[in-house]
Amino acid sequence: MEQLTLALAKGRTAESTIELLNKAGIEFPDFHEKSRKLVFSNPEGTLRLIFVKAVDVCTYVETGAADVGVVGKDNILESGADIYELLDLKLGKCKFSVAGTQDTPPLEEAKKLVVASKYPRVAENYFNQRGIPITTIKLNGSVELAPLIGMADCIVDIVETGNTIRENGLKIMADIDDISTRLIVNKSSFATKTESIRQVIEQLKSGLE
Ligand code: PRP
Ligand code: MG
Repeated sequence: MEQLTLALAKGRTAESTIELLNKAGIEFPDFHEKSRKLVFSNPEGTLRLIFVKAVDVCTYVETGAADVGVVGKDNILESGADIYELLDLKLGKCKFSVAGTQDTPPLEEAKKLVVASKYPRVAENYFNQRGIPITTIKLNGSVELAPLIGMADCIVDIVETGNTIRENGLKIMADIDDISTRLIVNKSSFATKTESIRQVIEQLKSGLE
């Protein structure tokens, strides 16, 4: 069987994804949590695992550098990549929300908003659909600060436990989308390596049971 390259997002969900792969009977014996290695193979040689930044997984898969990828729905929505999303791995569950300060007026009253986010495309899509014009400010982290210091009217960001919102005295103004880890597939790979990809999907499904 031909080899598949699987791009896996480094970071929070990496370890639970590896656990799921193991449960599905897909093992990478060389993988260790603290390893700095970026490429691993299964003993059968049918799968090559590459570790990439979460924001880059969709690029690897869209360009075909990887046949399949495991990445959060947040990065899929933000990338706008032309790929197939074929399975919900139900890891890293959280959501996209709009949040503001206690003084931020209701969104439906807004004529124009300044929105800070690590996910400007997600923010623009959400507010465009509601006919609210926005200016986005792209930040790379600690986004909750922006409305607190008057840099933005509100933020679009990930909420998991809600602790960051609460501890900074912000409030959720709207929920945008549920997020979890998904299996994505390069479109040409799915046409040319259908059987191998189907097999990985079936294995992952059994690992999820
Ligand atoms: C993420 C996200 C939120 C927070 C959500 O930030 O951007 O700020 O976690 O989790 P919670 O609802 O459980 O508090 P992260 O910790 O990754 O830091 P960063 O945004 O500064 O990169
Ligand atoms: Mg954050």
